[in-house]
Amino acid sequence: MAGDADLVRDWVDGWVVSRGAAPPLVEPWGYTVHVGLPEQPGRHVLGAVNDGVREDDVRKAAESTRARAFHLKVFAEPERVLPWLGPAWQPYGSGDFLMATALVPTAGPAVPPGYRLRTWSRGGVVRALVTDADGAFAARGQVAPTGASAVVDQIETSLRHRRRGLGRVVMAALHAAAAAQGATRAVLACTPEGRLLYEAVGWHVVAPLTNAKHLGAVG
Ligand SMILES: CC(C)(COP(=O)(O)OP(=O)(O)OC[C@H]1O[C@@H](n2cnc3c(N)ncnc32)[C@H](O)[C@@H]1OP(=O)(O)O)[C@@H](O)C(=O)NCCC(=O)NCCS
Repeated sequence: MAGDADLVRDWVDGWVVSRGAAPPLVEPWGYTVHVGLPEQPGRHVLGAVNDGVREDDVRKAAESTRARAFHLKVFAEPERVLPWLGPAWQPYGSGDFLMATALVPTAGPAVPPGYRLRTWSRGGVVRALVTDADGAFAARGQVAPTGASAVVDQIETSLRHRRRGLGRVVMAALHAAAAAQGATRAVLACTPEGRLLYEAVGWHVVAPLTNAKHLGAVG
């Protein structure tokens, strides 16, 4: 079974595949990922979780960049982590988490009447799309399996189609696709709303997530 810090490595490895980011660079305190977007050129991710996250590691990671819009991800309570960041780091998000699950082969729920589910694979990422009777977008998600582990990412149901079980349908399709490729566990980073869905389909919280982005060199 993977330890909690291994789950961070799992998440980083799968996230870069899911988003087409550069291979992670291993740092003394965790990982640097070059994402390659104007709004997020890259991100630092601390390798430890919860009480394993150390102040001097967070400070070292935070001090290792002055680049505007660089992101910092720390899997520990914001109340602990934020005081360690300088004024150039702006927190965002709240109530985010790292979550994990074992992937056990089970039959997924039926697609609700009037909806259609499609899945396809491209560049190591399996996508699931649910459309309504008109073919309009209803729900989506994607998973990047990277061996024994898989990262679930970008789960979304259109506002007008929520609470009809489409999130469950998407998650079951992604679980099945990852398991079919040999993954036995999965990990994701989520919003508070996402957490409600993931807990409903068997996931558990590993650690809270503190997010911040750099405001750029001052002066
Ligand atoms: C999170 C999200 C994908 C859920 O999609 P959904 O299609 O509405 O989910 P489902 O209808 O399949 O819900 C399955 C279960 O999850 C739980 N759940 C989902 N949304 C919930 C909510 N707003 N409040 C309480 N429980 C919720 C419930 O247990 C629900 O089962 P129930 O309806 O039988 O009670 C959707 O709310 C969304 O797109 N939110 C905005 C984007 C986002 O935050 N995505 C997650 C990123 S990590």
